[in-house]
Amino acid sequence: MRNRLPIIRGLAAACCVGGMLYGGPALMAQSGDGTFSNPARFVPKDGERLYQSSCQACHMPAGEGAAGAAAYPALAKNRKLRTARYITSVVTNGQRAMPPFGPMLDDEQVAAVVNYVRSHFGNDYTDAVTAAEVKAVRR
Ligand code: HEC
Repeated sequence: MRNRLPIIRGLAAACCVGGMLYGGPALMAQSGDGTFSNPARFVPKDGERLYQSSCQACHMPAGEGAAGAAAYPALAKNRKLRTARYITSVVTNGQRAMPPFGPMLDDEQVAAVVNYVRSHFGNDYTDAVTAAEVKAVRR
């Protein structure tokens, strides 16, 4: 029990900065299964977990996006993601109805989720974004 607390505290700090709870409830719900046997699952620098907690509500689980009253562009097979700097900047600083994640995620977390999206959902870009590159696009 003793060594679980720092993990939970770390998650709470990473997820709830700015009062926006994108990552918080989802990650906490997952940890409610009572198994802390694999702490790595809860490290919020995991791109897949970050995608699930921060992005898929709008961009959908397979990155397919959504049309309708609120339109969310598909991230799946999205050729605009070829330019690493574009997605890095959109995620960090936001763009129109896309919220900025820079205030909520640190440089490594932004890099992790950007690299995840660029290498999944039919995207096959292998040039990984670094934390330093995220830092450079922050406004
Ligand atoms: C609250 C809903 C919402 C969330 C959450 C969200 N997005 Fe978006 N996203 C949008 C909208 C709306 C746009 C279109 C912005 C525009 O009009 O330029 C967008 C645009 C984008 C684009 C540009 C796509 C293109 O074709 O130009 C990328 C890349 C992107 N989002 C990635 C992400 C990632 C990665 C996350 C999670 C870290 C995320 N988004 C979370 C709503 C969201």
